[in-house]
Amino acid sequence: MSGLMHRNLRLVPPVVASASGIEIVDRDGKRYIDASGGAAVSCLGHAHPDVLAAMHAQVDRVPYAHTSFFTTDVAEMLADVLVDDAPPGLDNVYLVSGGSEAIEAALKLARQHAVEVGEPQRSVFIARRQSYHGNTLGALAVGGNEWRRREFEPLLMHVERVSPCFEYRERRDDETQDAFTDRLIAELEAAIERVGPDRVLGFCAETVVGATAGAVPPTPGYFRRVKEVLDRCGALLIQDEVMCGMGRTGTMYAIEQEGVVPDIVAIAKGLGGGYQPIGAVLAHERVVAPIRDGSGAFQHGHTYIAHATAAAAALAVQRVIRRDGLLGVVRDRGRYLERALAARFDGHPHVGDIRGRGLFRGVELVADRATKTPFEPALRLHARVKAEAMRAGLCVYPMGGTIDGLRGDHVLLAPPFIVRESDLDEIVARLARAIDAAIADAKRDGVARNISLPATQEES
Ligand SMILES: Cc1ncc(COP(=O)(O)O)c(C=O)c1O
Repeated sequence: MSGLMHRNLRLVPPVVASASGIEIVDRDGKRYIDASGGAAVSCLGHAHPDVLAAMHAQVDRVPYAHTSFFTTDVAEMLADVLVDDAPPGLDNVYLVSGGSEAIEAALKLARQHAVEVGEPQRSVFIARRQSYHGNTLGALAVGGNEWRRREFEPLLMHVERVSPCFEYRERRDDETQDAFTDRLIAELEAAIERVGPDRVLGFCAETVVGATAGAVPPTPGYFRRVKEVLDRCGALLIQDEVMCGMGRTGTMYAIEQEGVVPDIVAIAKGLGGGYQPIGAVLAHERVVAPIRDGSGAFQHGHTYIAHATAAAAALAVQRVIRRDGLLGVVRDRGRYLERALAARFDGHPHVGDIRGRGLFRGVELVADRATKTPFEPALRLHARVKAEAMRAGLCVYPMGGTIDGLRGDHVLLAPPFIVRESDLDEIVARLARAIDAAIADAKRDGVARNISLPATQEES
């Protein structure tokens, strides 16, 4: 047995031996197409020569210097690059080492801002069900991912919870899309009233929901109206773009497509593309100015903030994205992937919904398409899909609990931006085979274990 604590304490995953472009090779020589970039991380694929060269150069120059003594040119340049392309006013960058740290910093920044503008009574965040903001205690508290939170509930701060903007699951049959959005906004307003408008610190939400629900975009106008509601009560909009940001949906920040300028944005994954652990908080000048003019310091910090080698890697990743026009590529290939998924799965009896933006796509699996009934959670369909996909040499990111943390299964796709159309065809073909094999396996197992499966419209 391994001394290393793996995610599954009873299972050691294959040992990776090398990776290049969109391909990963394990120690036994088995090849995998990386169709999810890990967890939507590897935006440039693996072993990109420009990023490796930048990292080598930084390691030779100065791999690390503590930020209470020095800054580095790479961290300064990275901040400039991020600010240049961010929505207007998001002029301040705080560099951390990952997504959860970015969310923790965002929450603390929101709180310190409230204190420094003379509103120390503000102490409550509002966030949505079926969201994920990270695994540290603050991030886990704002997150609405029930199975991740369950054991830790007694340790988590209170967060006011509202419904997600998840049209496939949450919009009622008798409701138009606009009426659904109206209902969500009314629910947010009611939550603010419950807490007390002058006690709300902010609202935290993923622009396009990632791992928990599977690439769920907002309805048109939702975030614009959320921002208006928050502005009325002086609370901040904290956008979690850890997964959906940095070009993944076809614009650098997914929120650009909503025409909204948030107060704070958290980014990570695609920022450094997996070459180094790095995340960041971008904060609007209206959030940072009162702190700069007040106490003069953000009351936060970690040993590795603005790490030089991590900043050099992220700077190189971001320069390649801009130099090679990869946002346009994401939009083009994203449309291609959308069409390929529709061609393969539109009539599939167990695919209920195909959604997402750019190279960030979700496929929701159902036992019955007409009623949207999910597979029995005990069948762990998502885990079977992952195993079948790995067997077929494909890395995708399936997850269970799509509907409420327990029921529902989806598969998330987030291939590197360098993926070719022929690669996408192969990804969809392998995914289809993995899904069909997993469902056949689940059905056999369901019969053997006497787990009832609703007959599908097509089958009955
Ligand atoms: C939307 C979102 N926020 C935060 C996180 C946490 O990031 P990390 O795993 O880097 O701590 C994740 C990770 O999957 C995420 O998807």
